[in-house]
Amino acid sequence: MGWNSWNHFASTVSDAVIRGQADAMVSSGMRDAGYIYVNVDDTWEGERDSKGVLHPNAKFPDMKALADYVHGKGLKLGIYSSPGPKTCAGYEGSYGHEEQDAKTYADWGIDYLKYDLCGLRPLMAKAPSKAAAHQMMLEAYRRMHAALRKTGRPIVYSLCQYGKDDVWKWGASVGGNLWRTTEDISDSYLSMAGIGFGQIDLARYAGPGHWNDPDMLEVGNGGMNEDEYRTHMSLWALLAAPLLAGNDLSAMTPATTALLTNREVIAIDQDRSGIQGERVWVEGALEAWVKPLADHSKAVGFFNRADKTATAEAQVPLAKLGLQGPVHAHDVWKNKDLGVLPETVRVTIPAHGVALMIIRPGPAPHTQGSPPQA
Ligand code: GAL
Repeated sequence: MGWNSWNHFASTVSDAVIRGQADAMVSSGMRDAGYIYVNVDDTWEGERDSKGVLHPNAKFPDMKALADYVHGKGLKLGIYSSPGPKTCAGYEGSYGHEEQDAKTYADWGIDYLKYDLCGLRPLMAKAPSKAAAHQMMLEAYRRMHAALRKTGRPIVYSLCQYGKDDVWKWGASVGGNLWRTTEDISDSYLSMAGIGFGQIDLARYAGPGHWNDPDMLEVGNGGMNEDEYRTHMSLWALLAAPLLAGNDLSAMTPATTALLTNREVIAIDQDRSGIQGERVWVEGALEAWVKPLADHSKAVGFFNRADKTATAEAQVPLAKLGLQGPVHAHDVWKNKDLGVLPETVRVTIPAHGVALMIIRPGPAPHTQGSPPQA
């Protein structure tokens, strides 16, 4: 969990922006909710010196001082590079300098690297065959993983190659802790829903230490309404996806803060079993997704994907959710106990919205932890 500069700041990211976001991560309560990584995306890179050592550009006067600042707040600092000669935005990549760059990151105190294929693609296009291009990509990812390991500093390794060549099947074998499964997200319901609901059949590839990454959050960037952002958060939590906020943390509305820091939603995402949820039921535009949790309860999201403004009613037999009565439920976003559920669950879901529940076996009502009075 953390934050990344790209979705909101893109090429305007700077030392001042990162310090401001780190401050806001703390003052907004995001850090205490579990958001720890502050990740600088593309456009920080400057020139290599005569020894080949990479320096940041003028926007980042002193990367080590920045890392110290971020660490001083109980947060971690992430950075971005490419296995190609250039990054996506045309800045210096790590091609041929992997060990040197990994050492530079470790010396600065970097804790996370997003490694974006982009600039290697022109070289891959010159490979004699598709298989050779694929091998070239795997080697490039392995090379940086080995370089990071060699530094002795624990650095989270995030693969970004847009889900090509079924990365979920080999991402862990090249050292990836997470890998993007899709092209870039944008701040619209169409983009977010296309990506989020498109994550079917990938659950078996994710688990503790090696996660599918459906891209960073757009919550709070303004292109979706509250129901749609609630769908975004709920779906990412059910998918056990990395939660990397992508908005301006220093200018959040209370509604955005509430969406990003809902403790129950975060607990679903971060559940220690690390099981990615799956779609279990579809009827027209309505879908139910289920994520089994470590305490034998299940997180269930009922979604209304219909492209109209009307709310819809889903009627889902418990058996379709893999449940057998009696069960009782808690509505997560409404923070409301629903008591024992009937054999067919009926939920009302706003357009593009969600009803997110924790469903537990047994007839006992969900309690907030206070034991019954003797
Ligand atoms: C894209 C990547 C984005 C962002 C961008 C920066 O390739 O998918 O998440 O990192 O490059 O140039």
